[in-house]
Amino acid sequence: MAGNFTRILPLEDLSFPGLADVNYVKLLATLAAFPVVVIILNILSQFLLPRDKSLPPVVFHWVPIVGSAIEYGMDPLGFYDRCREKYGNVFTFVLFGRRMTVALGPKGSNLILGGKLSEVSAEEAYTPLTTPVFGPGVVYDCPNHILMEQKKFVKFGLSTDNFRAYVGMIEDEITTFINNDPAFFVFQDKKSTEWETFQAFKTCSEMTILTASRTLQGPEIRAALNKSFADLYHDLDNGFTPINWLMPNLPLPSYRRRDAAQKAMSDFYVNIIQKRRAENRMDERDMMAALCGQKYKDGRTVTDREVAHMLTALLMAGQHTSSSSVAWTVMHMANSPTVAEALYEEQVKHFSNPDGTLRPMTYEEMKELPVLDGIIRETLRLHSPIHTIMRTVVSDIVVPSALAAPSEDGQYIIPKGHTAVASPAFTQIDRKIWKNHAEWDPYRWIDPSGEAAQALQEYLTGEKVDYGYGFVSKGTESVYQPFGAGRHRCIGEHFAYLQVGCILITLIRNLEFQLDTIPASDYSSLFACPQGPCTVRYRRRVTKLQ
Ligand code: HEM
Repeated sequence: MAGNFTRILPLEDLSFPGLADVNYVKLLATLAAFPVVVIILNILSQFLLPRDKSLPPVVFHWVPIVGSAIEYGMDPLGFYDRCREKYGNVFTFVLFGRRMTVALGPKGSNLILGGKLSEVSAEEAYTPLTTPVFGPGVVYDCPNHILMEQKKFVKFGLSTDNFRAYVGMIEDEITTFINNDPAFFVFQDKKSTEWETFQAFKTCSEMTILTASRTLQGPEIRAALNKSFADLYHDLDNGFTPINWLMPNLPLPSYRRRDAAQKAMSDFYVNIIQKRRAENRMDERDMMAALCGQKYKDGRTVTDREVAHMLTALLMAGQHTSSSSVAWTVMHMANSPTVAEALYEEQVKHFSNPDGTLRPMTYEEMKELPVLDGIIRETLRLHSPIHTIMRTVVSDIVVPSALAAPSEDGQYIIPKGHTAVASPAFTQIDRKIWKNHAEWDPYRWIDPSGEAAQALQEYLTGEKVDYGYGFVSKGTESVYQPFGAGRHRCIGEHFAYLQVGCILITLIRNLEFQLDTIPASDYSSLFACPQGPCTVRYRRRVTKLQ
């Protein structure tokens, strides 16, 4: 074969002319010097090139395109803090070629989260990440007014009547879980008072998906969780990472699995809807029942596909946020035995039966428990799962002087094309705002005159606005915004409280916990979560109060 080839094309023709004369050492040196030259040029350009003074300062970075990706990716809130010291409340950093302009503090959140539709777009910022996972036609793959209507439909499913039913369902699900899951084997031995360990984040994620499917997602999803659905969820979840946001369509197996899982999950939901319809079973107490048959303002009925994709969106939106919140709450309780006992005492005070057992609580009663309330609020203050909220800037935004002092060329502009960033998570732990900012102190929420209570009042009962899904408190300038603010404010807020609270209460009634050190946050996935392995000690509750 080789012989034939050389006959057709003489060997000397395959070599490059003059290749023998090349000085390989020089060539290698030139190649090695290239990145150094690029880095030097990048540094010089930041110091020497004239800067448009109307633009916010750009964070110094060594490597072009990559920019501040490493510093930001490892610890976004620490990065914001260092940048604020150097550049003020408003600054731009480079993230893999994108220009991210951060507006810190309550006024920054107000500017971005309260921004006009003509200035900022959540759809443009998020759709490359969310649409391949949720499926088309919903959330960020439709005009904003359609999303607002879809939020209204979801709110219809998050009714007080449903919540009343969910309290018992969650308690039942968690009780069954600790009675059966191998992680709680010493609890299952009724005579044992030994201490054992479980992995808090892994276990709390399991409890979260079980309770969300038992309640919002419905009985068919709950039944399928032990089987096919769990694999689909896993593949879909692997397509919900920072790299998917940066590069939505790479020819990689994980992307192909994401796309296949999205289609399979969508079909799975649609088949359930069709089966329920055929069996005349459209009155379940879940989100599927609430969404089916809803009509948009233009008279169009929500399609089964849209229902399927909204259910996927709700599953994904609620899972990471709630599971890390449950895990942090459990770990703080384990690390603060006096708070854990105060929570247990609160249960005993309100729900004791004459025989010393505890009766189930109702949804209404749950809202009147200050220790539980303080624990959840404080955990969400310190451990917001969403550290960076993004919007694409669709027309230049003028930065108010109260947020960033103007340069000699006047007020700063965040130009069209930048990604605007707000970080309520940063404001919630800002040492310039909160006393003992880094300390987990649930009692700060019980003091009616403290900064926490005031922030909460502004967040929950401030000026009301209807963005299209019912009146919500605007709260865009509060220093406490765990569920965001403005038109994209979370609709799962009340459900999340119910879910986290019921899981916690069921655990604290049955178990005692211990943990020596609270783990650091892990920012490597899209949502901040506790850094593994999160090993918590537990035993069957032996300390009882009368
Ligand atoms: C939006 C936090 C639970 C559904 C948001 C946003 C935040 C947030 C900060 C605003 C994002 C933005 O402005 O870009 C949380 C936290 C939760 C939680 C901390 C739990 C502790 C849930 C649950 C659901 C849910 C359980 C569903 C039942 C949504 C949806 C949006 C959203 C659909 C998008 C709204 C929009 O863009 O208009 N959430 N969330 N969340 N959340 Fe939640």
